[in-house]
Amino acid sequence: MSTILVSILTFSAALSAFYFYRQKEMDLKYIDRELLHWVDNAKESLPKDYHDKIVDKSSIPKEQYDAIVDKNNRHCIKGGLQYIWSVLVLDPEKIVFTTATSPGHNITKQDHAEFFEVHRDPGAFSGALKAMEPHFSSFKNEWGYGRMVLVPEIDSRGRVFMFGASISIDNIIASQRRIAFISLTISCLVLLIGFFYSLFLSGFIAKPINELSRIAGYISEGHFDHTIKLKGASELKSLSAAINHMSQTIKKNISDLKNREEELKRHRQHLQELVEERTTELGVAQDKLISTEKLAALGKLAGMVGHELRNPLGVIRNSAYFLKMKLSGSTDDEKIRKHINILEEEVERSDRIINDILTYGRIKEPSKINVDLNKIAKKVVERLHLPKGIIFDFRPGAKTGEIMADENQMIHLFNNIILNAIDAMGKQGTLSISTLAKSGNLEIRIKDTGIGIPSENIDKVLDPGFSTKAHGAGLGLAICESIVTLHNGEIYIASETDNGTEVVILLPFK
Ligand SMILES: Nc1ncnc2c1ncn2[C@@H]1O[C@H](COP(=O)(O)OP(=O)(O)O)[C@@H](O)[C@H]1O
Ligand SMILES: [Mg+2]
Repeated sequence: MSTILVSILTFSAALSAFYFYRQKEMDLKYIDRELLHWVDNAKESLPKDYHDKIVDKSSIPKEQYDAIVDKNNRHCIKGGLQYIWSVLVLDPEKIVFTTATSPGHNITKQDHAEFFEVHRDPGAFSGALKAMEPHFSSFKNEWGYGRMVLVPEIDSRGRVFMFGASISIDNIIASQRRIAFISLTISCLVLLIGFFYSLFLSGFIAKPINELSRIAGYISEGHFDHTIKLKGASELKSLSAAINHMSQTIKKNISDLKNREEELKRHRQHLQELVEERTTELGVAQDKLISTEKLAALGKLAGMVGHELRNPLGVIRNSAYFLKMKLSGSTDDEKIRKHINILEEEVERSDRIINDILTYGRIKEPSKINVDLNKIAKKVVERLHLPKGIIFDFRPGAKTGEIMADENQMIHLFNNIILNAIDAMGKQGTLSISTLAKSGNLEIRIKDTGIGIPSENIDKVLDPGFSTKAHGAGLGLAICESIVTLHNGEIYIASETDNGTEVVILLPFK
């Protein structure tokens, strides 16, 4: 800081000095011209041979000399000069006045140098003598600063004479000094003002810029909540507003980006879940396909075996019938009669199982006709001869139970479900069948009050081969599901242990 100040002061001083000396030079040139002009005037006011005639003290009469002095006095007053004079060089050490001026420019005082008076300082003329051409010099004596010209010439006798004129330059020096001082002061002031103004400006700009870089640092570290409030010029205010806006935009974009990323993550997660779900489903489907294929093969085999067993079973049934006929009326052996009955029942049961196996293996595309399910339900119940303790509660809610379906398959469907219901209830209970038209479907509900299905089995009852019965083939409900699916319908089973079972079937009317 102090170095800057010192430099400023040195620079202004140098500037002022340069200006001072340049001005002085110009002033001196002007003064020198003036001095020469008055020397010429003085020379011209003298006779041309003035110096040629001078030989001694009496060469010029006093009146003529006084008249010359008087004229010089007036020239001095007019030109503002100190002195106008002329000298004759008798030898370098003896120089005499040939004209002069009164110190107060007043002839009456008679205080001027006398004609032919020896000059006290011959050395003052040596420079002009050597150069022999107009010689200017500045001097300082008891009266102050002055400027002088000496113009040497040679008279007809070969002697050197010189005209001289001098002027005081005290005023000029003083005014030059004053100007230099003023200019120094002004340049110092201007430079100082400039310096302080630049300090102020740098504070005005540097401070906000520091603040700006501080906040920019925060923003670059991801802190977007720092707002800038720059004080100062309106440009700085609009700059801070722009930066604030920028940081808010960045913040918003980042949060948008984060949200999108989050969303993307969610989508990815969901996709992963979907893939896992589908993979599991695919696995299940594959398993099902394999088991279906196995079952199909097994079904084919069972169908063949069942078919082959039908004939021997028919023979056994006929033989049992024959034996029964033979024994009828005789009281012979009650035990034999009992065994024949068991034989017949078992043949009946085996026949049913074989029937189921054959049916399951032969389910085909339904050949649909118009059938009334209300009627079929009733007919199936009648044909099965319900035990006496079982009440049949039939509620045909639909005006007509007519749908487009395969009649034989519908009989099978009701038969299997009602048989299961009878099995579940034993000798007592209520079998309820209701039908209802529901948005393009006929809804059939078959409900019993039997033993119900334990929750762990509810998902298995539709699987082929699942049975909890000692002589069950476990194909009844599997056949039902196939028939319903082939008719584009749905089947649901709701049940609880000891609370009966309800089978709900939805079949489209067409
Ligand atoms: N109405 C019902 N009440 C109780 N259990 C039932 C009923 N219907 C079906 N089940 C259960 O579902 C199993 C499978 O039935 P199903 O496929 O008809 O084969 P099956 O009658 O030969 O056992 C039955 O063994 C039984 O455990
Ligand atoms: Mg069954």
